[in-house]
Amino acid sequence: MSFNQKVITVQKNNGADLFKSLATPVYRGSTIVFDDFDSFEERKKRQPDGFSYGITGSPTHRQLENLISDLEGSQNTVVLPSGQAALVLVLMSTLKGGDHVIVPDSCYGPLREFLTQHLEKLSIDITFCPPRNTTFIEQSIRENTRLILMESPCSLTMEVQDIEKVAEIARRHNLLTAIDNSWGGPLLSRPFRFGVDYVVEAVSKMMNGHSDVLLGSISSADDGHHAKLRSLQDIMGMYVSPDDCFLAIRGLETYSLRQEKQSRSSEVISRWLEKHPAIASVYHPGLESSEDYRLYKKYFKGFGSVFSFTLKDEKRLGEFFDSLTRFRIGASYGGTKSLIAYYSPESLSSRIYHEGTCSLIRLSIGLEESQLLIDDLAYALNKII
Ligand SMILES: Cc1ncc(COP(=O)(O)O)c(C=O)c1O
Repeated sequence: MSFNQKVITVQKNNGADLFKSLATPVYRGSTIVFDDFDSFEERKKRQPDGFSYGITGSPTHRQLENLISDLEGSQNTVVLPSGQAALVLVLMSTLKGGDHVIVPDSCYGPLREFLTQHLEKLSIDITFCPPRNTTFIEQSIRENTRLILMESPCSLTMEVQDIEKVAEIARRHNLLTAIDNSWGGPLLSRPFRFGVDYVVEAVSKMMNGHSDVLLGSISSADDGHHAKLRSLQDIMGMYVSPDDCFLAIRGLETYSLRQEKQSRSSEVISRWLEKHPAIASVYHPGLESSEDYRLYKKYFKGFGSVFSFTLKDEKRLGEFFDSLTRFRIGASYGGTKSLIAYYSPESLSSRIYHEGTCSLIRLSIGLEESQLLIDDLAYALNKII
């Protein structure tokens, strides 16, 4: 047999069944082959979680999806190319032209853009609600309302939503609920316990944890919802690389250790900042000074690694940023390396219910020693007072 012939022949016995790798194997493949005519003919029956074509994933994808389901306490999970893709897919799967959706005013910016620039064009009505106001949410429900979306806390201004109450309102009105749980992730918050239908994670953040992957997930409590999500993931071509799944699985192996250390440092640093004379306010719902403290204690287990603050005097904001050496400037969170990001009052101005007129500075606390991070912040803050 020629080399060419050999190399294109499907290798039936290459010993894969004996290579019992401790690490998760990465299964690549666009094309699935079938043993006979009947199994090919019936291949679609293998969905939502079986294998009929590569687009719906491989055993590597399923391994990650099963781990996320375990973390969330859910029946099912679909992984998507990013957290944003996961948010978009929940909307596409639950809404049709003529429907109405209620969304917190403080939601993730690109989600707001998708809603106002694309879904509105498809005749979907949107109400942006003040995130804390459940009475407003209930009063916004109309005949055509189909979904209430939550994000708690909001990843910039940190408002906490009363998840159980919103889910109860939704059930009473026969509506669906979804929540963007990216800030806390499943180790800090498990919204299925409070009756939510869909939980979305930006796996790119703390769950993967190393700032080298974009990935999202949607977990659902209902098999029918899951089948619909899988089918939509398939026909919208939202494929995730198995290499990225492998990296996320590896990230999950240290997720709880990282979460614990980063939460501890974050609490120490935010309490130190609260006392610094250059700081106007620190925004973290786990601080006793927050109006959301009571709800935070109900819904969250642990401090989390992300919070925001404002300066009393912003005139030398640029100098403050440029004096930091340990914090890298970047708009993300949940990685091993600490980050700082700046949000101008103008960038928050699309929010109808946000009253602040100050710039927000957001920190993501990584795995560095907390004292080194405090020293870095002290040096930069002392330069500008
Ligand atoms: C709250 C929240 N949801 C969703 C996303 C989107 O995640 P991704 O970056 O994976 O698209 C982000 C990203 O910053 C986020 O902060």
